[in-house]
Formats: sequence, structure tokens, C-alpha cells
Amino acid sequence: SDYQCLKVETRGRVGIITMYRPEALNALNNQLTSEITAALRAFEADPNIGAMILTGDGKAFAAGADIKEMQPKTFSVVYSEEFITATWEELTRTRKPVIAAVNGFALGGGCEFAMMCDTIFASEKAKFGQPEIKLGVIPGSGGTQRLTRFVGKAVAMDMILTGRMIDAEEALRIGLVARVYPPEQLMEETIKAAEQIANYGALAVMAAKETVNRAYETTMSEGVRFERRLFHGLFGTADQQEGMAAFLEKREAKFTGR
Ligand code: HXC
Repeated sequence: SDYQCLKVETRGRVGIITMYRPEALNALNNQLTSEITAALRAFEADPNIGAMILTGDGKAFAAGADIKEMQPKTFSVVYSEEFITATWEELTRTRKPVIAAVNGFALGGGCEFAMMCDTIFASEKAKFGQPEIKLGVIPGSGGTQRLTRFVGKAVAMDMILTGRMIDAEEALRIGLVARVYPPEQLMEETIKAAEQIANYGALAVMAAKETVNRAYETTMSEGVRFERRLFHGLFGTADQQEGMAAFLEKREAKFTGR
């Protein structure tokens, strides 16, 4: 492939994007983030792909924005180019589910990237943190908002004000991650879950993701109403007919994404 900072592969209906900058713990420079955007778009457009995994090569998921690239930037530059949304936010626009498989350091923008994914699975060696305060700044890609909503104010303030890292066990306890595996099992188990999702009806999967995300954007009553409308809408799909018929006939459903 044409990627310099990524390894991109497929396993059945699962697309896997591995961040690969071994010299810098997968620090998120412009090249790497642009390539992630391109890879996400390609999988999003591919009807054979039903779910994606974002992970990192080596001992890091990603150690944050590239500090070497960031250091010389001035206010006028970061403000006028809206650093860093242009190349970073594709993850939040993706309609197919994306699981972050966090194998090691997920710091700063790396932690923010993981939180932009739909769920996070971690290895026992994973470390999460928002250390931007140590660099004289604050999280700039949603960290203050997503972390606070996901784990609550006390832990978010602790992590963002002190910059301390938390390990996988603490991340699991506070609800930042869904599952923790021994390092050598992380990818295999994440692929299994992604494959499971990818084999369900694609419209129901898309609707489930959209509706859960809605919970962070609206009130309870509007969210429940939104859910009800999409729930009703799924009765217009072939996959609803097939899924329920298969249950009654005691056989496996064959979903078609229609
Ligand atoms: C550029 C980085 C980097 C980064 C590591 N490296 N993190 N380069 N940007 N974020 C480079 C190191 O300079 C070093 O290069 C090589 O990767 C290996 O790192 P070491 O520090 O030698 O490894 P280790 O001692 O194991 O320490 C690991 C670490 C540490 C604890 C993760 O690297 C670290 O603290 N990194 C910075 C983490 C951070 O502050 N992230 C937040 C960035 S701000 P050389 O050439 O010396 O071998 C951010 C803001 C996002 O993300 C806002 C979005 C808009």
C-alpha cells in the first residue's frame, strides 16, 4: 500500500488500521493522521467491511500529538489552521463501528483518539493519560469533554490536572475501557468482537452506534425518542424479517445489510 505510517489489512469483514511510527511511539504527526483519515474513508466506503479496529504497533497505541511538529507552532498558525481538527476528526464521522485496541501508551492525543473510537479494549500493559499540562497546554482534541463524560469529573480532573497515567486495571474500573486482555490475546479477541459485530445486520449496527452516541448530544427524552424512531425504522429492513424468522426457525440468521 501507499501508507508510510500505517499498516492496513483486512480479516474477513474487519478492517484493521495499525499506527506505525516505531521511531516515535506512533506520535501523531500530520502524515500519520492524514493516512488514518484516508484509511478510515476507504474502509467506510468498502461494502465488504462491517467494523474496524484502530491499534498501534509496538509498545504504544500512540504517545500523543507529535511534540517535535507542534513545538514551533504559534497561536496564529494553530488558530488559523484550526489545529488539529482537520486531520483528526474523521473517527467521529465514521458510521461503521471502530474498536480501539490499546496495546501500550495512549497519551494525550493518543488517549483522545482512543476515546473517539466506539469502544476501547486494552492490554494489561496499556497506559492512559492526558499529560498536556506538563507541556504547558491542555488536551485539544476532545479530551476534557469525552474523558469527563466517560469517567466523571473527579477522575477526569485528577488525570488532566496532574497528568498522571492510569493503568489498564484502573481504566477498566472507571469505565474508560470495556475489556482487558493479556497482551498476546488483545488483537485476537478484538478481531473476534469486531467480526461478531460485522456479521450482524449492517443497518442495525449503524443505528445502534448512532443512537448510543446520541446519548452524549441530547436530553434523555429526546434520546429515547430518537431511539424509538430508529427502532421502528428497522422494521422496514429485510434483516429484521430474517433475524426474527431465524430465531423462530431455530437457525442462524443470514444478514444482508438490507
Ligand atoms: C514526538 C515522541 C512523543 C511525542 C515519544 N516520542 N512521544 N516524539 N511526540 N508525543 C519519541 C521520543 O522523543 C523518543 O525519541 C522516542 O519516541 C521514544 O520515547 P522515549 O521517551 O525514549 O520512551 P520512554 O522512555 O519509554 O517513555 C515513553 C513515554 C514518553 C512515557 C510515552 O515518550 C513520553 O512521555 N512521551 C510524551 C507523551 C506526551 O506528552 N504526550 C502528549 C503530547 S501533547 P528519540 O528520538 O529521543 O528516541 C498532545 C496534545 C494533543 O497529544 C492535542 C490535540 C490537538
